[in-house]
Amino acid sequence: MDLVALLTSDRGRNLFLPAHGRGNALPKEIRSLLRKRAGIWDLPELPDLGSPFGREGAIVTSQKISALAVGADWGWYGVNGATGLLQAALLAMVRPGEAVLMPRNVHRSVVQACALGDITPVLFDLEFLADRGHVAPPGVFRLQEAIDALSVNSLNVAAAVLVNPTYHGYSTDISKLVSLLHSHGIPVLVDEAHGAHFSFGLENELPCSALEAGADLIVHSLHKSATGLVQTAALWLQGARVDPVAVERSLAWLQTTSPSALLLASCESTLREWHSTAGRRKLLDCLDQAREIASWLKNRGLPLLDNQDPLRLILHTSSVGITGLEADAFFIEHGIVAELPEPGTLTFCLGFGSHKGLGRAIRRRWDGLLLVHQDRSSLPAFSAPPLPFLTTPMMECGTAWRSNSEVIPLEDAVGKVSAELICPYPPGIPLLIPGESLDQRRVEWLLEQGSLWGQSFSTGIRVVK
Ligand SMILES: Cc1ncc(COP(=O)(O)O)c(C=O)c1O
Repeated sequence: MDLVALLTSDRGRNLFLPAHGRGNALPKEIRSLLRKRAGIWDLPELPDLGSPFGREGAIVTSQKISALAVGADWGWYGVNGATGLLQAALLAMVRPGEAVLMPRNVHRSVVQACALGDITPVLFDLEFLADRGHVAPPGVFRLQEAIDALSVNSLNVAAAVLVNPTYHGYSTDISKLVSLLHSHGIPVLVDEAHGAHFSFGLENELPCSALEAGADLIVHSLHKSATGLVQTAALWLQGARVDPVAVERSLAWLQTTSPSALLLASCESTLREWHSTAGRRKLLDCLDQAREIASWLKNRGLPLLDNQDPLRLILHTSSVGITGLEADAFFIEHGIVAELPEPGTLTFCLGFGSHKGLGRAIRRRWDGLLLVHQDRSSLPAFSAPPLPFLTTPMMECGTAWRSNSEVIPLEDAVGKVSAELICPYPPGIPLLIPGESLDQRRVEWLLEQGSLWGQSFSTGIRVVK
């Protein structure tokens, strides 16, 4: 089937991103725009529209209004996902040759920005949840440990990146982390790609948003955690630690000169809807619906893991001896498509659509899955990456990435320096980054990951020659 035909094919129940659920939860304005004459909305940067980094025009005005509504000083819409905005934000905060503190679960785009900008990533390890193979977001003690380790290792950082919430909807008290970093004079960029809805004014229902926590730069993916079209995102700036001119210069450097007017309009109407009373009611309804589904499933014995975002349901498949990848294949075959299959879990993204009868539908598939995989006992605990608490790559990321390189079998890579990311997608969290050296334990751990992740993992690795 060709691409165009595939786009409209039936996919059963979609519990994947984008969170508008195949159009069901798109804002009314965008739905009616898309019903108008085909393509009429596909406009260039005409004078009345302007551009996201111009001085005048409807786009700049809209960004200002949206920034005001979320309580930020500056705001920019993005049409290259959270990826494009994270990269621009990082390059605006950190100069070539400087270092940035970040947890091990940063998205690959942040590491790629380090390679692009000759920035040194200083990575700190996170608590590993061995029963499911996830990491927990850092608490204040772990972050303090990382800051202490910086001085022990005589490292200075120009900024820090935090990820909150995680893909799975685990969240931490971000305000304490931001305050701690600020007390050490470190500006903070928060990758809140999965938590735009935390900032929609339902403080008691959802964890604190990075905006409320006072982070300096915040990136929201509007298609992962709001009702925007794919690729839509927003970058917010508040306070005086980061220069908005540096952000604009960086954005203009990295973003397309022909942003899609449709995607920009989608950013506007998504944010406008969520900051209206009706939008908040819609979000509340989604949260109520999600909590009901989760408790219905839990009451019937399905192993759902706890998290802080009701819109993400994590099925702990390894607890009954089934990998998330096996469960995913079964669910897809039986008409339910999840977002994130992993070795120990299968994560469903409920998004903002309506899910009548979903609890029963998941339970039916789950019972069928158990029948197919009878007599299994829970999988063994997953092993944590064998890494020191704080690491910097042996060779600069960008240097390693640009160096002469060759692909060799992973088992032959002991003593080599990686020229590449190793990164199952989703979730897009690198297991190895360019410039890191490989010892025996790391290679063995990566080989083990390869057998757990299956096809999404290459058996070769590109190393520096
Ligand atoms: C935590 C996190 N940040 C950033 C991104 C990048 O978002 P996008 O795909 O919109 O560029 C992702 C994508 O999966 C992500 O999980």
